[in-house]
Amino acid sequence: MPGAAELFASGVAVITGAGAGIGAGLARRAGELGMTVVVTDIDLARAQAVAGEIVAAGGTADALRVDVSRAEELDRLAETVHARHGDVRLLVNNAGIETIGYTWEIPAERWDATLNINIHGVVHGVRAFAPQMLASGQQAWIANLASMGALSVMPCQTAYIMTKHAVQSFSECLYLEMQLKQAPIHVCSVLPGMLKTSIFEESAGAGEPPSAAGHRRKMFEMMREYGMDLAEGCALILDQIAEGRFWIHTQPEMSMPALESRIEFFRSQQPPVLNEAVRDLVD
Ligand SMILES: NC(=O)c1ccc[n+]([C@@H]2O[C@H](COP(=O)([O-])OP(=O)(O)OC[C@H]3O[C@@H](n4cnc5c(N)ncnc54)[C@H](O)[C@@H]3O)[C@@H](O)[C@H]2O)c1
Repeated sequence: MPGAAELFASGVAVITGAGAGIGAGLARRAGELGMTVVVTDIDLARAQAVAGEIVAAGGTADALRVDVSRAEELDRLAETVHARHGDVRLLVNNAGIETIGYTWEIPAERWDATLNINIHGVVHGVRAFAPQMLASGQQAWIANLASMGALSVMPCQTAYIMTKHAVQSFSECLYLEMQLKQAPIHVCSVLPGMLKTSIFEESAGAGEPPSAAGHRRKMFEMMREYGMDLAEGCALILDQIAEGRFWIHTQPEMSMPALESRIEFFRSQQPPVLNEAVRDLVD
């Protein structure tokens, strides 16, 4: 079976939120393999820097400013990419933000941003790109970034967790829709454990309630200490996408126990139980 080195040696990859973190890591890896990478981010300077690195390393890349929380920007992106580069082989709906705080303390604007970026960004990425992918009749891949958080719950990361549960179910339904259409489009759900990125940086929490600061700082430190190397994690993700897997894990040793306890929770039909260790994060 051909792997990432063959399948992603050419063709167009479009990645959202690719100015930093996992999106940037996937963009660099796709560029290394030989794809034409469309690096998009709400922060154009960041997207241009990543595209510049890809080009400097001998690859091909384009940078565009796209805010995934705005459906019309994803429509425009699909039109631009198709006009400039032709059919898309790999779409990664990656852009996402973490939001911390008690549900009732998070301002409405931050709730809206979290739901719009993490859920609508994925939905409208698919809505904008899938018609052309289907019309081309070519084999293509759509990877949606869920999280290990799609398999568990966590108080005071409620906003984030619920969006990841939504992305997980969205990807499952989308996978089945492609089956109904007998389309050669591989849909997958990416569930990273913990990769070293900027998601817990202080600046990424702008708009969260002040009470979230300590929790965010502890998550930042935990990621710095235990997070997986970004390039290593992104190479693992692209390899598994190429294998045509639906479930994509970077650290199964973290996600599988979470999955087991979720299954047990459903079976038991008992109310949720607070893990006392969580108090240390939240207090
Ligand atoms: N890092 C991890 O360990 C981890 C674990 C599980 C899931 N994830 C998921 O992976 C994805 C990427 O996370 P990351 O850790 O690389 O984050 P990151 O904060 O390092 O990078 C996110 C990028 O998205 C961009 N972005 C933010 N809002 C945007 C918008 N409205 N439109 C377009 N771009 C926008 C940011 O500018 C940034 O460049 C997210 O969906 C996240 O939930 C990450």
